[in-house]
Amino acid sequence: MTLAPDAVRTMFDRIAPVYDVMNRVMTAGLDMRWRRLAAESVVRTGDRVLDAACGTGDLAIADLKAGAAQVTGLDFSENMLARARKKTRRRTDVLEWVQGDMLALPFADETFDAATVGFGVRNVADLELGLRELRRVLRPGGRLAILEITQPRGVLRPFFSLWFDRVVPALGKVLPGGSAYSYLPASVRRFPDAETLSSLLRAAGFGDVQVRLLAGSIVALHTGSAAE
Ligand SMILES: C[S@@+](CC[C@H](N)C(=O)[O-])C[C@H]1O[C@@H](n2cnc3c(N)ncnc32)[C@H](O)[C@@H]1O
Repeated sequence: MTLAPDAVRTMFDRIAPVYDVMNRVMTAGLDMRWRRLAAESVVRTGDRVLDAACGTGDLAIADLKAGAAQVTGLDFSENMLARARKKTRRRTDVLEWVQGDMLALPFADETFDAATVGFGVRNVADLELGLRELRRVLRPGGRLAILEITQPRGVLRPFFSLWFDRVVPALGKVLPGGSAYSYLPASVRRFPDAETLSSLLRAAGFGDVQVRLLAGSIVALHTGSAAE
């Protein structure tokens, strides 16, 4: 099942009130650690950073903690952005929130030193275009981190199926607005595995592509550098 961009945006507008709680519950709180690792893998002190598909802002906040001087969070869901704004209203000097489309980033070429995307690339309608856009707005040598659920091989596969096909949609049903979580299993299943995403990153103009598998290889952290 692939949802049209408008349907994805509407879905996240509806999920926004329960999004953070669902993240903590679904990952037993590990999601914050993964975001910290993603931020620390690419952000250097003083960087100007883009967090694309920023949602409620947790990865953008992690970028700031990792040393960024200025972080721009971009998302097309106004309700997700409203949550991010509320959480960070005392940090408007270093954090800005922009409503926009990851497939047509409203920034000039080579604007950022680093970019992060947390659990966001899985939902974009044209992944290759999204990666090329991220490459375009990074300066040469700028670094990208993509944190995403991936498809594990081996012993964890049955557990993964049980979790995403049964437990997560069931959890979603008991939370207001959470019924949209029934979409999660399909979005994970149709997303490329870690090797394929690495190839797509290279094709989009990233070098030094590396993958770190987390949580028994259920989550992948890809990093790369915009080719000079
Ligand atoms: C699963 S949430 C991830 C939020 C956040 N990055 C995090 O780490 O929790 C995915 C986000 O991607 C956003 N999104 C999906 N496609 C997008 C697009 N084409 N442009 C901008 N935002 C998009 C959704 O609105 C949603 O907030």
